[in-house]
Amino acid sequence: MRDTVRVELGARAYDVRIGTGLVADAHAQIAPLLRRPRVVVVTDETVGATHLETLRAGLGAIEMVSLALPAGESTKGWPQFERCVEFLLEQKVERKDIVIAFGGGVIGDLVGFAAAVLRRGVRFVQIPTTLLAQVDSSVGGKTGINTAQGKNLVGAFHQPSLVLADIGLLETLKPRDFLAGYGEVVKYGLLGDAVFFDWLEKNAPAMAAGDLAARHHAVKRSVEMKAEIVARDETEEGDRALLNLGHTFCHALEKATGYSDRLLHGEGVAIGCALAFELSARMGLCSQEDPSRVRAHLKALGMKVDIRDIAGDLPDAEGLVELMSQDKKVLDGRMRFILARGIGQSFVTSDVDRAVLKTLLDEALAGRS
Ligand code: GLY
Repeated sequence: MRDTVRVELGARAYDVRIGTGLVADAHAQIAPLLRRPRVVVVTDETVGATHLETLRAGLGAIEMVSLALPAGESTKGWPQFERCVEFLLEQKVERKDIVIAFGGGVIGDLVGFAAAVLRRGVRFVQIPTTLLAQVDSSVGGKTGINTAQGKNLVGAFHQPSLVLADIGLLETLKPRDFLAGYGEVVKYGLLGDAVFFDWLEKNAPAMAAGDLAARHHAVKRSVEMKAEIVARDETEEGDRALLNLGHTFCHALEKATGYSDRLLHGEGVAIGCALAFELSARMGLCSQEDPSRVRAHLKALGMKVDIRDIAGDLPDAEGLVELMSQDKKVLDGRMRFILARGIGQSFVTSDVDRAVLKTLLDEALAGRS
């Protein structure tokens, strides 16, 4: 089964194709975009070792040169970015050529940013290989790298020309990585589609166990929602911030854990979504049943749900609030949160009582929320 979701951005509109066998079918998918039969692929060493030969075979008569960067979040900084840009220049990539980002969120963001600045912008195709990248980071044109000051602080909006979300690639993901990506899937139901959340409650176990039809539906619905929000608000002047449900908490927890294996991004999103719903309930915005339902669903999948599920020491509540106040969404010195009036009904607000927030975090750190 294959589906196409169009990201309607006028002159920068593009397709997200979803299905199995898309990498093996790369020639048919990509050839219509090419002026000359040549692509430059940037991947990471893990994805390269597992999938690069399938891509090479799929490209057929299209010449492919490739660079494999080290796998992991630490690649997403200046040194590997420079290496990538220099490689693309050595390969004499021209403005009308296509660069392929073949990997998870780190590769998609870094290569997308390299494409954004190379010769003031070359076209690129995203072939996301993780669930997180398929449902979130490969769609919408946010590209960038981390610096010593924080995550994604240097970057550009640069839309891809095509996204190939090959569901079959998810079969090689480790269960922990798959579930971390699921944190971003559940976010879509929670932020704007209660029917999708109902569906996930029933079907996520099958999805986690490898059911392709369930995976296809979940990726398609997530991409549809993201495409619709991005088309409305490409550069995050308003509604696009809804995609950050759970992220204010997540970013603080990621920073507190040093962006390490202690907490993967999607795990932090899941914990953050549970906290955002708990905060919403305590502020009287939604019923107490909503956060309980969110937590029950995440727990049923064996996901991290509570701050106490993160191994090792963490800052106290005041320390976490301080980390939150460094979030990119801070506006005029005020923290902004995505809260909810119910499942599927989120909104952006700066109207959060710091005392309620601190009590919530105190209790969460003590294992009482
Ligand atoms: N990952 C959030 C966004 O693309 O806006």
